[in-house]
Amino acid sequence: MTIWPTRVRGLAWGADYNPEQWPEDVWDDDVALMRRAGVNLVSVAIFSWALLEVEEGRYEFGWLDRVLDRLHAGGIRVDLATATAAPPPWLTTAHPEMLPETADGVRLAHGSRQSYCPSSPVYRTKAVALARALAERYRDHPALSAWHVNNEYGCHVSRCYCDRCAVAFRAWLRARHGTLDVLNEAWGTAFWSQRYTSWDQVLPPRATPATHNPGQLLDFDRFSSDALLELYKAERDVLREVTPDVPVTTNFMAAAFSGLDYWKWAAEVDFVSNDHYTFGEDPDRHVHLAYSADLVRGLAGGRPWLLMEHSTSAVNWQPRNIAKLPGELRRNSYAHMARGADGTLFFQWRQSRAGAERYHSAMVPHAGPDTKVYREVEQVGAEYQRIAEVVGSTVDAPVAVVFDWESWWALGQSGHPTSDFSYSEHVFGYYRALWRAGVTVDFVPPGADLAPYRLVVLPALYAVDDATPYEEHVAAGGHVLVTYLSGVTDTRGHVHLGGYPGAFRELLGVRTEEFHPLRAGQTAALDDGSSAVVWTEHLHVDGAEVVASYADGPLPGVPAVTRNEHGAGVAWYAACGLVGDGLERLVRTALDGAGVPVGPGGGVEVVRRRGEVAGSAVSWLVAVNHSDSDAELPAVGVELLSGARASGSVVVPAGGVVVLREEEV
Ligand code: GAL
Repeated sequence: MTIWPTRVRGLAWGADYNPEQWPEDVWDDDVALMRRAGVNLVSVAIFSWALLEVEEGRYEFGWLDRVLDRLHAGGIRVDLATATAAPPPWLTTAHPEMLPETADGVRLAHGSRQSYCPSSPVYRTKAVALARALAERYRDHPALSAWHVNNEYGCHVSRCYCDRCAVAFRAWLRARHGTLDVLNEAWGTAFWSQRYTSWDQVLPPRATPATHNPGQLLDFDRFSSDALLELYKAERDVLREVTPDVPVTTNFMAAAFSGLDYWKWAAEVDFVSNDHYTFGEDPDRHVHLAYSADLVRGLAGGRPWLLMEHSTSAVNWQPRNIAKLPGELRRNSYAHMARGADGTLFFQWRQSRAGAERYHSAMVPHAGPDTKVYREVEQVGAEYQRIAEVVGSTVDAPVAVVFDWESWWALGQSGHPTSDFSYSEHVFGYYRALWRAGVTVDFVPPGADLAPYRLVVLPALYAVDDATPYEEHVAAGGHVLVTYLSGVTDTRGHVHLGGYPGAFRELLGVRTEEFHPLRAGQTAALDDGSSAVVWTEHLHVDGAEVVASYADGPLPGVPAVTRNEHGAGVAWYAACGLVGDGLERLVRTALDGAGVPVGPGGGVEVVRRRGEVAGSAVSWLVAVNHSDSDAELPAVGVELLSGARASGSVVVPAGGVVVLREEEV
């Protein structure tokens, strides 16, 4: 099985290309400008269904033939979409039952995109037929490099509550639980008189008078992720049958999107691709970028991955279209590359004149190529050719963070001890502390092999059946840092009895008798100078050492942070919502205890990739300076962008980047 877009040389550089929005005389200009900018890969036809199948069963491929031929003549490879992300109005008009329904029973109309129900047999049949028609038409086209199935599955409709989904949900539940008795037990239906006596009484979690059943919600999340995955697999299987040597992907939205369990999805793609958009108003947007990139590398199992979309500048679906700063698209591209991307593409090539995304930036802006954006695009395109040797290399990371979509879903439900907790913000808070310490992080799924890591962070790993693997890891000498809301329930959502944090009590040497979430805006001080927001809990130590206790708040004198020696290893517990310096101090102390060296910090991001050049092991230091002052790093080797030798140190210019092939000293 091929695992990377074929025939793309060096790092991939390009965009979504939507030529159908333009008259044909623009296409030659497109190819000429792409060549000038070093573009070598574009994604074509993502939203072209209505122009490819103009009426039921009547395909018109002529325009796409001409597009692909022109790109090929220009030496540009194609990541060809199956065009199934937006069914055309003729189809949804003929089959209105294929439209999705919200929890309130509202049927969503066409006129935007992604207007289909995941369980619709009409949608599935037509989508698979289109994928087959495209595969058969272009199987031998020399520009065809990879398949791009659909687009961002679930982005707008990740849950559908229609009658057909109710039937599919019941079938999924039967396969998971076997009998209604098991389902009733798993969902705890003795509560609020919810006991089911027949399968057809079971519904998707539609609008109800009060809080939903947590087990029903969690199973519906699992089902909905699986239902979309089945659609993806149906298209993929046809593509594999017709073009077994062309790799297949679909673009994810990690880490912004909770709707799909990407650990499961990642096992089904030939290579992982991802879309990531920074929020122009967020001062930590480069840290969010790193968080996403590290998570995507985790999904790719450490192998190279493709950034399918990011923006050259403004993003029109955000409340304010903040333009990127000079150098920002370049830094963003290198930061993804540093963290394992073997190519960085944009949405989109040429900025649209019409349609919903007119004010979204592109590689060629409305104002044309004589612009800051296009010049920067040209610059990076040329530079990528100088650093092509990094392709195929991997990234070093001494720390792992366990990331769990099921805990994200479960903790997103209402009826929890506080509505101020956000799984993604919580995980990001710990990630940012690690980023600021200059430490590269791998994200791993629950159950992953932890042996390669010196420190493992378990942020709010909520739904855990059995903590034995973590206990064994620590007993054998591992170091873990566990945070509050971990181990509280099993994977059905049933609370582990005997005190919190349930599954992790023994490993952590603690027992909590009651949660004490804080009031909105309230802060609790700790006796080591740290402070906590959102969460405190009435914790007793049961073998653990107290690192810090509350100085005020609802629980003065009660332990807030603990450290437990378990076998040959160490397990830390942060039982409260640490913020700011206190959070960074705890993370640095845990890193230090685990023997993890910290990096330069101060807004300079340094990542090491390792691979081979001409059969010899090589490492590259990739540094991205997000600050306003030059930074000097110890280094010996050749800086590939400038060609200059570094014989002791290298300067990373303010706002600039460095890619240095290291030499052993
Ligand atoms: C992505 C999508 C693209 C485009 C882009 C704009 O979510 O895949 O088609 O809409 O956002 O930022």
